[in-house]
Amino acid sequence: MEPLSLTKMIDEKKIASRVTEMAQEITKALKGEPVIAVCVLKGSFVFYSDLIRNMETDVRTDFLGCSSYGNSMKSSGEVRLTLDLTHGIEGKTVLLVEDIIDTGLTMSFLTKTLEARNPKKILTASLLFKPKALKTDLKPDFIGFEISNEFVVGYGLDYQGYYRNLPYVAQVKQKQLDS
Ligand code: IMP
Ligand code: MG
Repeated sequence: MEPLSLTKMIDEKKIASRVTEMAQEITKALKGEPVIAVCVLKGSFVFYSDLIRNMETDVRTDFLGCSSYGNSMKSSGEVRLTLDLTHGIEGKTVLLVEDIIDTGLTMSFLTKTLEARNPKKILTASLLFKPKALKTDLKPDFIGFEISNEFVVGYGLDYQGYYRNLPYVAQVKQKQLDS
């Protein structure tokens, strides 16, 4: 792939300190309750691993595979579960961890899917949130950063599978992207 021209948007230090803060906010909200932290693959694996290591409560990990975009830049509006949880969540407190909330369709679909399994409570956390792109009435419980309606990569977020390993969040120049 032709390398994209990127502008750094949120650097490593800012990410680390906000993620630590978010973990503290979540720890406080849980009031000592154990939680099943659900990593929504693939985008949130980097954020998730930093977040759970800063949470001071009993954490069990589980993973959900979810696909909505394919290789395109715009949400297809269709969300598919590509991998399901290993354990049941009935009566349990669940923390759903996303990389980014854009239209909100993925998070709404996932919350509805998990609600149907009768958990005690579902909390939602997302590193990034694009309020201007939101098409649902969803509001995550914990947000790292609100960003404008730009396409970003890095720290787990990809473009066509690339740039997940970039240690910071960068904005992609719009004219380089397919539509
Ligand atoms: P939503 O369903 O529109 O909220 O989109 C959520 C999913 O789309 C995220 O989990 C990401 O995988 C992907 N996505 C949305 N915006 C971006 C972006 O700016 N960069 C990379 N992936 C994105
Ligand atoms: Mg993606």
